[in-house]
Formats: sequence, C-alpha cells, structure tokens
Amino acid sequence: MAIFVTGGAGFIGSNFVLDWLAQSDEPVVNLDALTYAGNPENLASLEGDGRHVFVKGDIGDFDLVIDLLARHRPRALVHFAAESHVDRSIHGPEDFIQTNIVGSFRLLEAARAYWGGLTAGDREGFRFLQVSTDEVYGTLAADAPAFSETSRYEPNSPYSASKAASDHLVRAYRHTYGLPVLTTNCSNNYGPYQFPEKLIPLCMHHALAGQSLPLYGDGLHIRDWLYVGDHCSAIRRVLEAGTVGEVYNIGGWSEKTNREVVTTLCSILDELCPRNDGRAYAEQIVLVRDRPGHDRRYAIDASRIERELSWRPAETFATGLRRTVHWYLEHRQWLRNVTSGAYRHWLAQQYGGCACGCS
Ligand code: NAD
Ligand code: TYD
Repeated sequence: MAIFVTGGAGFIGSNFVLDWLAQSDEPVVNLDALTYAGNPENLASLEGDGRHVFVKGDIGDFDLVIDLLARHRPRALVHFAAESHVDRSIHGPEDFIQTNIVGSFRLLEAARAYWGGLTAGDREGFRFLQVSTDEVYGTLAADAPAFSETSRYEPNSPYSASKAASDHLVRAYRHTYGLPVLTTNCSNNYGPYQFPEKLIPLCMHHALAGQSLPLYGDGLHIRDWLYVGDHCSAIRRVLEAGTVGEVYNIGGWSEKTNREVVTTLCSILDELCPRNDGRAYAEQIVLVRDRPGHDRRYAIDASRIERELSWRPAETFATGLRRTVHWYLEHRQWLRNVTSGAYRHWLAQQYGGCACGCS
C-alpha cells in the first residue's frame, strides 16, 4: 500500500510527508512541480529513504499522473498542490486558475480513471482528499458565528475563488461519478518550512534582518491560526475515519488580529534573540497600504471534526508560535536559501514603494 501526495514539497505538504513517514512505514509518492513555493530542502531528511518517492511534475499532466497511479497503486490521494498566496493571486491570477482549477480537474480525471480500474474492494477503500481553505467562505462580520461546514461559499480573492472552484469539482466527482472524496477546509497555518511571503515567516525574516514588519491597513484583520502539525494530524484522521463525501472544517479556536500575531512574535523574539541595541522588535512594526478586497475576519467552527472524529489540536497559539520561532532561529540557513533570488523581486513588487524597508 502507498499514498499519493501532491504538493508535498511545499509548506503543509512537506510537514505532512515528514509526519506521515515518522509515524508509518507506508510509502509516499510525492508529485510536486517545484514552483517557487516548492523546496526539496524541506525533504532533505528523507534522502535515501526508500519509502519516499519524489517526482517532479505537474498535477495537470494527465499522462504522468495516470502512469504514476498505475505504477504505485496508492490507496489514497491527498491533494495539497496549489498556488496558495492571496497577494500573488491579486498580482497575477492566471497561475491560480491554471493550477487550482485546471490542474485539479486533470488530477480528478486521472484519479477517476485509476479508481474505475480498481477491483470492487479497492474501489471502496480508495480516498481522494481535497485539502482546502476557510477562505472559500468569504469574510465574517465581527459578531458573526464562525464558519461551519454548511456556510455558504462566498470567495473574495482570485485565490479563494480558484480553491472554491476546485472544491466544487471535487464535490461533483462524488455526485456524478461516485469518486470517494473527502474535503477539509482549514484555517491559517503556521510552523516550520513556511515560505516567507506569508505573514508569520515574513515578519520573522524581516525582524531578524532589521527591516520593517508590514501590517496591512489598520492591522486589525482577524485570522484563526492553527499549528501545521495539528493540520496534518487532522488530515490523517479524516483520511482514516472521515465519511465519504463529507466536509470537515479544521481550526484551532484561535482568532487573533494581525497586530496581536506580530506583537506576540516580537515578544518571543525579544526573549529568545534580543536585538543588539536592546530595543523591542515591536518598534519595527509599520502600517502599510491595505490588500485590495482584504477579508476582515476568518473563524472556523471545528466542532464537527472534534465531535465525530475526536480530533483536537495539540498546540495552543502560544506554544505553537514559540515552537515556530525556535525552528526559524535554528534554521537560519534555510531562511537565507529561500530568501535569495526571485524572492527579492516579489518583495520589491509587493512592498517596493512602501515603508517596509525591503526594496
Ligand atoms: P505552498 O504554496 O507552500 O505549497 C504548494 C506546493 O504545491 C508547492 O510545493 C508547489 O511547488 C506545488 N505546486 C504548485 N503548483 C503545482 C502544480 N501545478 N503541480 C504540482 N505541484 C504544484 O502551499 P501550502 O501553504 O503548503 O498549502 C497547501 C494546500 O493547503 C493548498 O491547497 C492550500 O490551498 C491549502 N491550505 C493552506 C493553508 C495555509 O495557511 N497555508 C490553510 C488552509 C489550506
Ligand atoms: P497571509 O499570511 O498572506 O495569509 P491569508 O491572506 O491567506 O490569510 O496573511 C495573513 C494576514 O496577514 C492577512 O490578513 C493579511 C495580513 N498580512 C499583513 O498584514 N502583512 C503582510 O506583509 C502579509 C504577507 C500579510
């Protein structure tokens, strides 16, 4: 038996593959196109490990995927691969449509063809798990209840719209063809190996480099944060015990304003790696131009997965963020490697004219 993972060289995918192989001997076939966000260094500890088969390729390459499925005969496919950064989707939505919608469609087609050729028993046991986001539900008013599995899809960015489209395709493949699918919609993740374009690793990187910590708008937008290891354990649990065709929301009951997130990060850094001049990292925070169409608040009601599958996050925001800061401090070379080259162009494009001091 084996599982097939897409996007396993990215942030969540690589954490998932590493956690999976730390807990099981079941091999993982890992298909990743190695875009700017995919990093083989995340998987360096698996070098020479026969349980991990890495293939560089595109989820939209039907012939490649069908060939890999036929050769490795996985019992499940966990679909992480995506373009995942909202700001990039605002600058250039095309890649998001191509990978998240067209790529996911071709992947579903390959999965359907493979699944259709299995024996009746294997067909029943097969699972296609779609890893999705809470952003498909749109934005919440300050006093609105958290998103549940029945909240209406109201995506507001090209990123969330493209994820919503792929979620709908996954649902349609269940209803039309009977493909045994599961969907998870998770809140904002943080932890090791996150590319420093997202809020927490970007501020970590800028803080250490003595640069400004840019908060969009008034800095009071709210996200619901979950440690990546907890997301991975939830996905494993849904794969193991989730009901086919169902959706599970995953979150950490941990709503924070962006300002709270960054000031907490700064205080941990003040303690673990004080600035040479003795001043507080929080002095580096600056308010910058807001993101167009910026969703004000996300919050996940995770009671279904807790009640039905007995899943609970192991980390609180305080413990998870401390672990994360430790990890980045201990992996300065990883951070240096991913912040050279093309990364600088992104910073200049996104923050170039602003006060964040990175251009
Ligand atoms: P990421 O951007 O760090 O990684 C994406 C990975 O997919 C990269 O390794 C990249 O090379 C690969 N990829 C991109 N296009 C590809 C293609 N066409 N073919 C094959 N591989 C391709 O993303 P992430 O933060 O790890 O997110 C993983 C998944 O989880 C995404 O589907 C995302 O929507 C979802 N998600 C993310 C979060 C979050 O907070 N990061 C929260 C909820 C859900
Ligand atoms: P991000 O990490 O990009 O995740 P998402 O947009 O998917 O939620 O952003 C998290 C929050 O932080 C979001 O409200 C936007 C905000 N943000 C900033 O204030 N400054 C930044 O430099 C970045 C990257 C994000």
